Amino acid sequence: MNSFTQKNDTLHAENVALNQIASEFGTPCYVYSKSALTHAFERFSAGFAAANHLVCFAVKSNPSLAILNLFATLGAGFDIVSGGELARVLAAGGDPKKIVFSGVGKSAVEMQAALNAGIFCFNVESASELNRLNKVASDMGKIAPVSLRVNPNVDAKTHPYISTGLKNNKFGVAYEDALSIYQQAAAMSNIAIHGVDCHIGSQITELSPFLDAFDRVLLLVDALEEHGIHIQHIDLGGGIGICYSDETPPEFNAYAAAMLAKLGKRNVKLVFEPGRALVGNAGVLLTKVEYIKHTESKNFAIVDAAMNDLMRPALYDAYHDIKTVQTRSDQSSALTYEIVGPVCESGDFLGHDRKLALAEGDLLAIMSAGAYGMSMASNYNTRPRAVEIMVDGSQCHVIRKRERIADLFALEAVLPKP
Ligand code: LLP
Repeated sequence: MNSFTQKNDTLHAENVALNQIASEFGTPCYVYSKSALTHAFERFSAGFAAANHLVCFAVKSNPSLAILNLFATLGAGFDIVSGGELARVLAAGGDPKKIVFSGVGKSAVEMQAALNAGIFCFNVESASELNRLNKVASDMGKIAPVSLRVNPNVDAKTHPYISTGLKNNKFGVAYEDALSIYQQAAAMSNIAIHGVDCHIGSQITELSPFLDAFDRVLLLVDALEEHGIHIQHIDLGGGIGICYSDETPPEFNAYAAAMLAKLGKRNVKLVFEPGRALVGNAGVLLTKVEYIKHTESKNFAIVDAAMNDLMRPALYDAYHDIKTVQTRSDQSSALTYEIVGPVCESGDFLGHDRKLALAEGDLLAIMSAGAYGMSMASNYNTRPRAVEIMVDGSQCHVIRKRERIADLFALEAVLPKP
């Protein structure tokens, strides 16, 4: 389902032309499609309809309250990695009983907040964390529901920065150590073992790494059962990739069918933590061409969005398709451009070698920017973060105002006069 389509040579989000959005709300501007978000969630869940399951949206991929609220309304749970994300989910009306808490560095304060909220499960990533959680829960007179995040040591075949399931990553406990740490957990007064968790990486475009990881997790679940430790749920993390250019990630229903076939007759709830697959292609970053500059070797289109707005190209050399919002009739004038932002770094680019027919003042849409776009935006170069708009049919809603420059130093102070 693509909710960003060309109509009469103009790119639209649902029924609204993107140039209209730019003239009303300015640029740079993130634009999301409510129907694309809704369909992605519904399609993901549909594959598991026959099974006991919970889809926990990975908040880090896009923590907008409006998006969390939409998913909560659709019945989603949430995968969080900080006390801040917990607070956001609760503020957005998310159900605490559907929250899983991942991350290698949970503080005691974050554990207390999650125990107070009554979350579904802590995904514990080390023996030390387990000890701390037991102590925190015991001081509060509570029992902490726990999965251990095991590291199945499979190669997710993705970018090394976003691959997490290999032995040398900081994530999870080594597969070989899992049984003994589960036995320690079983002996702890304020820990209740609920599940097994794994997450092997992000932007995975093949099924096989998921299947290999699931095989290893199932072996562990069976071994735990033999040792008298009963597992109620298996959390398979997130990681399904999206199409940025020509990738062919697994279809949701093929992924679901393969997972359910492997699960067989075991009476276990399945939990998933998709982020990118639900929001990535439901958002674009709208930007305006400020200047065109020709040098001896390159043509530059300098746009008003930058690496602080969308960090993925600079950080991972990630590819995002870039489209003109209005197609020019003189396509013969197309040149190959470097699409770059105003930030003072050579790494500040949004796309290399893009053949486009452009003029100053034109609008561009950086596609597939719904995941890890605004969520990784910063104020580098004292640039206010962009406004965010959600389109619903023919209506536009501001879901986050553009920051004002004064906001950016409101928390600062200069030293008192001597
Ligand atoms: N669960 C856990 C424990 C995770 O660490 C992540 C992502 C997810 C779920 C969601 O993964 P997804 O379904 O979105 O692939 N900033 C990078 C991606 C970092 C992913 C970190 N963890 C990027 O822009 O590509």
